[in-house]
Amino acid sequence: MAGEAPKIGLGIDIGGSGIKGAPVDLATGEFVVDRVKIPTPHPSTPRAVAAVVAQIAAAFPEHVDPATPLGATFPAVIQHGVARSAANVDPSWIGTDVERLLADATGRRVYVLNDADAAAVAEDRYGAAKDATGVVLMTTLGTGIGTALLVDGTLVPNTEFGHLEIDGHDAETRAASSAKEREDLSYERWARERLQRYYEVVEMLLSPDLIVVGGGVSRKAEKFLPLLRLNAPIVPAELRNTAGIVGAAVLAVERFGG
Ligand code: BGC
Repeated sequence: MAGEAPKIGLGIDIGGSGIKGAPVDLATGEFVVDRVKIPTPHPSTPRAVAAVVAQIAAAFPEHVDPATPLGATFPAVIQHGVARSAANVDPSWIGTDVERLLADATGRRVYVLNDADAAAVAEDRYGAAKDATGVVLMTTLGTGIGTALLVDGTLVPNTEFGHLEIDGHDAETRAASSAKEREDLSYERWARERLQRYYEVVEMLLSPDLIVVGGGVSRKAEKFLPLLRLNAPIVPAELRNTAGIVGAAVLAVERFGG
């Protein structure tokens, strides 16, 4: 391997508040240079978002080869490149062929997947689930709850367990970290009254061997994860806010080659 140039992928994470991208060293799962972040346009229509993605994809000419495919995450169900839901994004995304839209905008081959799915793949390859076998459930706690299911490292895409109906509510409206903020809940109340119930239902349905918790709030994991009583170990994500970019970059190269 000595002297061989590192294999570099390109990932962009499309979120409700920001669109972030970076070149990723696929050997280590680390960014090659600092990421570029641009606020998500409002309204976040496909056209407006595609323009920002094109700008970010073009921001690393010294590090990313023009032939390198782009991996992008999107916070919705993405079935074969097409958005099928829009829980926290502009409804005009539903039915949009996101892969085609971003390929036209960037001139690259593009692989698009759900944000939590991308984060789970990154945690599986480089982070908290690296040594895990069996059923791994990834959950991201943010504006909504993103979920991803891996079985011995293979992704079952688009699980959407954040929208389970629990006690008569769409689960993410009660247990996401946005609910903690909105209702001004302490970590303790949020953990004991909201997360405990959420994770015990999910655990009853899936019997995971490991639960990984990502999203910005996972930086404060010591304030709430130790309060949860579950059968499976529940651990914070290790890649934190880089995971979506990293997972998308990896999968795009796996799909198209470098
Ligand atoms: C969406 C998911 C997404 C999650 C996290 C949910 O509201 O339905 O597709 O993964 O939010 O962004």
